[in-house]
Amino acid sequence: MSILETRSLYSGYGKIKVLFDVNFKVEDRKITVVVGPNGAGKTTLLNSIMGLATIHSGDIFYEGRKITSLPPYKIAKMGIAYLPQMGNVLSELTVEENLRIAGYLLPMKEIKERTKEILEFFPVLKEFVDRKAGTLSGGERRMLAIGMALMRRPKILLLDEMSTDLAPILVKKVMEKVVQLRDELGLTIVMVEQVAKKALEIGDKAYLLVSGTIRFEGNSGELLSHPELAKLYLGIAGR
Ligand SMILES: Nc1ncnc2c1ncn2[C@@H]1O[C@H](COP(=O)(O)OP(=O)(O)OP(=O)(O)O)[C@@H](O)[C@H]1O
Ligand SMILES: [Mg+2]
Repeated sequence: MSILETRSLYSGYGKIKVLFDVNFKVEDRKITVVVGPNGAGKTTLLNSIMGLATIHSGDIFYEGRKITSLPPYKIAKMGIAYLPQMGNVLSELTVEENLRIAGYLLPMKEIKERTKEILEFFPVLKEFVDRKAGTLSGGERRMLAIGMALMRRPKILLLDEMSTDLAPILVKKVMEKVVQLRDELGLTIVMVEQVAKKALEIGDKAYLLVSGTIRFEGNSGELLSHPELAKLYLGIAGR
């Protein structure tokens, strides 16, 4: 069953039209990957879900409830966490301070418990708990950003380009963590990715977005080995 879904969604920014008739379904406790060329509307899809874009028509449902055009804070409160494409940690604060700030609305006892749990989940952060976030590597910073989102115990994580600008070894590590988020924490993940191959390798379901419309919907593996689409849009030679 889908936990999150858009029905015939047309959206953009003000009068600007970006998405056209997008029917996007996210299954509970699965990894859904969204790939496509620059400017295709991938970020706009996440923005639309999160209440950060203009919905021209169509609807968005989360756990059977209509969330179309609700303000972002309400959507976040319902259990959807969004990690935007650009930086999201406070460089001047330590790893631990960043986590605590992300949970600032929680009672102190819970902040302490969750911080501890998250540091267990990301051993690399535990090691650097007193370091300023600005001194972390790109991969470590991504882990911290995920950790910060986890402080509020979301059900769904919307991840926008977690692996852009990371060395291949770090991309692998980030992807392994994403799998662990699904398998160990039971999270539902929506992952927008430029490094399409790696994302599709760990994904369950995939969508290919081109010029604001869905060009492919199906199993990740199927898109990865698609004779035309993989080559045309993902720079992957079809198998
Ligand atoms: N805030 C905005 N106001 C107006 N137009 C925007 C805004 N954000 C994005 N757009 C436009 O919407 C279109 C889709 O952009 P979007 O950011 O969703 O693409 P994307 O698939 O995420 O691309 P990328 O891979 O480069 O991140 C682009 O033409 C972009 O210029
Ligand atoms: Mg984008």
